[in-house]
Amino acid sequence: AENHRESMLLVTNYAAKFFQETMWDTAEGKNIGLSYFKERGFTTEIIKKFELGYSPDHWEAFTGTAINKKYKPELLEETGLSIKRDNGTLYDRWRGRVMFPIHGFTGRVIAFGGRTLKTDKNVPKYVNSPESEIYHKSNVLYGLFFAKKAIRDEDNCYLVEGYADVLSVHQAGIENVVASSGTSLTVEQIRLIGRFTKNITILYDGDAAGIKASLRGLDLILEEGLNVKVVLFPDGHDPDSYVRQVGSSAFKTYIDQNRKDFILYKTSILLKEAGNDPIQRANVIREIVESIARIPDSIKQSVFVRECSQQLQIDERILLSELNKMRLAKS
Ligand code: GTP
Ligand code: MN
Ligand code: MN
Ligand code: MN
Ligand code: MN
Repeated sequence: AENHRESMLLVTNYAAKFFQETMWDTAEGKNIGLSYFKERGFTTEIIKKFELGYSPDHWEAFTGTAINKKYKPELLEETGLSIKRDNGTLYDRWRGRVMFPIHGFTGRVIAFGGRTLKTDKNVPKYVNSPESEIYHKSNVLYGLFFAKKAIRDEDNCYLVEGYADVLSVHQAGIENVVASSGTSLTVEQIRLIGRFTKNITILYDGDAAGIKASLRGLDLILEEGLNVKVVLFPDGHDPDSYVRQVGSSAFKTYIDQNRKDFILYKTSILLKEAGNDPIQRANVIREIVESIARIPDSIKQSVFVRECSQQLQIDERILLSELNKMRLAKS
């Protein structure tokens, strides 16, 4: 099994080289792939560091070359690089897409995300590798290999939604950044971060989907016993678009000034939705106590109960009795 995984890794790493060479050394790659990344504002340094590439817009460009080089068809299929037709022949999963290799823990490429350059709504924006023996997406964080040292040094991990967000934030000099690309945040991913730091700061997209995902994510993080803060970006921006609009230094200032602990964040989001309706406002309080109830450490719980009581002008004893009811309901 170890041998088999190793054979698969040889194929995925060969593919990463192929997509890189295609981007840097062919006319199509330079004019389409490289230009795309440059137009998005990525530097040569970041493009090379993250080993970005381009897949030719042909049905068998990669598969044909790999087979000529004696890579086994079964491995091309098992790694998800090639797809089998009904007649048994193989074709390329990614055609005419810019390629984001996904690195495992030791820096080897285990999978890919490929972004279309078309604006056609019927084409999926990103196509990711399928699950395989070397790629279990719920256990993988995009960018972790390049971020882990900075996560330890800074004792904090920034969590973003997408590939481009990781690259832009990293390029802005904030290297402790990862994305849970291809899946919504999992417990395994939180535990993975937990090996390097107990502090996570969520930087999701400032749209309805991002806000919803952040509320779900922060509960999961609290349940795992980690600390969580959230930054909300204005006007539907994501970290990538925002840093491009305002520049690195204003971006850092924004993060520092808008970082909210989960009580403050949840309160501001939910109270806005609740308006002046007293019943809905009561539900906001219950929602926040529900998050506090997820924290395993009771000392931390009591700190947040106090904060919540101050924020929402509610007697601490009422919050505590709600919290106890929830504890009882859970056990
Ligand atoms: P850009 O337009 O390149 O800036 O992408 P984005 O990362 O801002 O896209 P978005 O916020 O829509 O999605 C966030 C992440 O979700 C992406 O980076 C992908 O990992 C994933 N994703 C987005 N669209 C798709 C899709 O069509 N299919 C799959 N499988 N994943 C997607
Ligand atoms: Mn196998
Ligand atoms: Mn989005
Ligand atoms: Mn986005
Ligand atoms: Mn984006």
